[in-house]
Amino acid sequence: MESINSYIQENKQRFLDELFELLRIPSVSADPKYKNDVIKTAEKVKEKLTEAGADNVELMPTAGYPIVYGEKLIDKNLPTILVYGHYDVQPADPLELWNSGPFEPIIKKTEIHPDGAIFARGSCDDKGQMYMHVKALEVMLKNNVLPCNVKFMIEGEEEVGSSNLGTFVKQNKEKLKADVILISDTSILGNDLPSIDVGLRGLSYVEVEVVGPNRDLHSGVYGGAVANPAQVLCEMIASLKDENNHITIPGFYDDVLELSKEERAEMALTPFDLKAFTDDLGIDEVRGETGFSTIERTGIRPTLEVNGIWGGYIGEGAKTVLPSKANAKISMRLVPNQNSDKITELFENHFKKIAPPSVKVTVKPHHGGEPYITNTTSKEYLAAAKAMEQTFGKKPIPTRGGGSIPIVALFEKELGLKSVLMGFGLDSDALHSPNEHYGVFNYLKGIETIPYFFKYYAEK
Ligand code: BES
Ligand code: MN
Ligand code: MN
Repeated sequence: MESINSYIQENKQRFLDELFELLRIPSVSADPKYKNDVIKTAEKVKEKLTEAGADNVELMPTAGYPIVYGEKLIDKNLPTILVYGHYDVQPADPLELWNSGPFEPIIKKTEIHPDGAIFARGSCDDKGQMYMHVKALEVMLKNNVLPCNVKFMIEGEEEVGSSNLGTFVKQNKEKLKADVILISDTSILGNDLPSIDVGLRGLSYVEVEVVGPNRDLHSGVYGGAVANPAQVLCEMIASLKDENNHITIPGFYDDVLELSKEERAEMALTPFDLKAFTDDLGIDEVRGETGFSTIERTGIRPTLEVNGIWGGYIGEGAKTVLPSKANAKISMRLVPNQNSDKITELFENHFKKIAPPSVKVTVKPHHGGEPYITNTTSKEYLAAAKAMEQTFGKKPIPTRGGGSIPIVALFEKELGLKSVLMGFGLDSDALHSPNEHYGVFNYLKGIETIPYFFKYYAEK
């Protein structure tokens, strides 16, 4: 294993160049305009996986974007690790807030990343983290240290809800047979604070529309006399939380698995710098559910957030108009034992109930997903913890990240497989935001750590 470090150092520039090739293709799955680029990215991943030494690499079609599959099966008596990742990225908008092109990767030093960070959409989420696994395979093969079988399943629709992956998994159970799933698509607490995300939240996502009069109206002629859907929508949304920022939808918290006093006390030991947190975001104060700390609010509590809201005139200058309708996109993050279909139904019933008779309301559910928890005494957690301890020189802390990877719960349901979330990004890497970046240190550290996970997992 000693040889892998020098191999990584010797090939560092090429590892970066190859990732840059991937980052240059705008694989935005949400926008049909990028269809050819998304497919081109899948082909590039296939090419790279083949070059790294994987066998039977293929693009497997789905009703949406293809899944890149590849494998290296060395001995059927040894365990098999299934690596999951995604090659699609979030839209780059708003473009004007990027300091360099979102698809023109460039390395710049930052305060948190003194060795430099790769700035590009998808650098951290998830091309950079996914590609660490491709390079780790190369490292293991070239140094003759691959200790078990490996399969790759890299999808192109994670950022739009993985709606075709469930069917794919059901149809390919034999092919995907494995012992565990390894994913790098989450964060660590800091480059000197390794951690492992042991909880993913579920998701319920709805779009609502409030319709008032049958057309936009002159706000002088009609204003004050008919319901303004924009105003009504705001009032309805405001009523979804009380003065303690507690969600008011009846039954919303019924299934929430509360943590014990002991578990909360343990969680409170997680290093967290509130000042650094607010400074990074440019805010004076945090805000959230009364009675819970910031890391609890994002890790173990369900939330309801407006993701987008619009209606009426938003062009240049002033237009005196009373809009006929107003809309919002609302997401709810769910915690263990909550169920996304049930929460969506509770939301829909409640939202329709609180609407005044002067408007009509429709609620359209978008994608959802279930929460997931990793057991910290499991073989896979312990292997990941040992691997990180080896390469960071520090035992990782188990954390509960706030994000969602809905397919993880589905993997367990359909394949009976547990996942381990050994991510290497930082929350401050601006994923989904302008100027997303990924530390060069983190990229190389991931490539170095993954072979150790393989080693420790394969050990009896
Ligand atoms: N990699 C993220 C999820 C993530 C980020 C987990 C940081 C933990 C820490 C993933 O690509 C993502 O953005 N997921 C979406 C899910 C949605 C599109 C169904 C999310 O969390 O919003
Ligand atoms: Mn991701
Ligand atoms: Mn994402």
